[in-house]
Amino acid sequence: MNQKSLAGQRAVVTGASSGIGKAIALAFAEAGAAVVVNHHSDAEAGKAVTAEILGKEGRAVSVRGDVSKPRDVQKLFDAADAHFGGVDILVANAGAQADAPFLEMTLEGWRKVIDLDLTGAFLCAQEVAKRFRRQGLEPNRSRALGKVLFVTSVHQRIPWAGHANYAAAKGGVRMLMETMAQELADQKIRVNAIAPGAIKTPINKAAWDTPAAARKLVKLIPYGRIGEVEDVAQSAVWLASDAADYVVGTTLFVDGGMSLYPDFREGG
Ligand code: BGC
Repeated sequence: MNQKSLAGQRAVVTGASSGIGKAIALAFAEAGAAVVVNHHSDAEAGKAVTAEILGKEGRAVSVRGDVSKPRDVQKLFDAADAHFGGVDILVANAGAQADAPFLEMTLEGWRKVIDLDLTGAFLCAQEVAKRFRRQGLEPNRSRALGKVLFVTSVHQRIPWAGHANYAAAKGGVRMLMETMAQELADQKIRVNAIAPGAIKTPINKAAWDTPAAARKLVKLIPYGRIGEVEDVAQSAVWLASDAADYVVGTTLFVDGGMSLYPDFREGG
């Protein structure tokens, strides 16, 4: 169904050198999009993602950038202009955790996550929306003027002890998304979010890489398995495509039911 559903689209995917961002970049390319593969610290990994896409006759370019820095954000979209002639889709995925019990959380640890996960998403989304407007609608390319897809988390809804900065950032992105969607829908800018649950990636390795940890984690997932990055990537392809043209301001939870309060299967 997703075969070439993004043909002719140009996408910027932030944090695309590993995990969910990498899977989205690969799936977008597979679906026909040209992709700016953003990485921050791991240039080799970013280049490897780009090489994989180019190896399958896709179009991609690697660009280093810290999404919490306005100048770096400009660079990402300038690369989309220079290499692909513009941008149709932003996937604001870059993010990090810096976990600490609330009473021990430092201002530095707080700011690190808010800067990257929330302010970074804001900067990228504002920049891409300006560029969508400058480019104008091209109905042969997409029914929308442009699409913004935030990668949030089940923790945009589920409070998470020991992760106050992360939960606050993701909850913030949810309201950023909904406000942007409300404000820009009449300009045909389509803004949505994907909220992944526990997906096997480097960010949460400790939660799944031993059998005991994995057993504990699966108890939180009604569907009974830990998510794979492809689960999220396929949803992202659909949400960014014209097949989802009437989907505006929504969050698609891709979480095996994690956000359904699984403890209430027994009790309550
Ligand atoms: C976090 C993971 C966590 C998952 C479910 C994600 O947003 O980054 O570390 O395993 O939520 O709790």
